[in-house]
Amino acid sequence: MERLDKFLCDSGVGTRSQVKVILKAGRVAIDGRTVKDGSLKLDPQTAVVTLDGEKLGGKRRVVLMLNKPAGYVTATEDKQDPTVMELLPASYRHMDLKPVGRLDKATEGLLLFTADGDLLHRLISPKKEVPKVYYARHEGQAGPEDVEAFAAGLTLRDGSQCLPAKLEPLGAGESRITVCEGKYHQVRRMMAARGMPVSYLERQQEGPLTLGDLPRGQTRELTEEEIAAIDG
Ligand code: URA
Repeated sequence: MERLDKFLCDSGVGTRSQVKVILKAGRVAIDGRTVKDGSLKLDPQTAVVTLDGEKLGGKRRVVLMLNKPAGYVTATEDKQDPTVMELLPASYRHMDLKPVGRLDKATEGLLLFTADGDLLHRLISPKKEVPKVYYARHEGQAGPEDVEAFAAGLTLRDGSQCLPAKLEPLGAGESRITVCEGKYHQVRRMMAARGMPVSYLERQQEGPLTLGDLPRGQTRELTEEEIAAIDG
């Protein structure tokens, strides 16, 4: 059995205080009877809960995509810097969403969030080898020897070994890099190991997901089809 107010929050109806207002307005019904008391217990497997006559599905699997701006750290709390959690719209703040993997404070682009612990672990598991595509501006010009070194698996300056990766030179001081793992500062360290320190980095793609036209600093929910595509 579950409290009605918790069920409504988990269904994405709103925050606890928004849910209170919605209940008070008589907009929620259980099995056809209007209910205003959020402490009421229900069986989420059998009860039919409606908001303004529309059936609610209970716990939705929410995955959010953020187009992260520079200047925010990927953490749920930080004493010094603003965190990516501050960029989530208020209606998602009660959902216990966690970032999937991390982007450096200076890195921009695609960052996912979910409250589904199993999905989170599957997505960040090194076994999953999800390809992540980055756009980098850097010193120097990437050449064929750099492309070959990336493809063979780079050794970083601290001696750690990287999986084979793809480097695509785009022009003077610009490259696209695809990696299938998530070591600390991975792309910056790979480029530094080839004498091409990075001045700007953006994650543009993760598995089948791309930023599309999502503006910087904005979020959007993944569709059921997109969630199925990353959780295959
Ligand atoms: N590689 C990096 O160096 N930084 C990031 O934020 C992501 C990948």
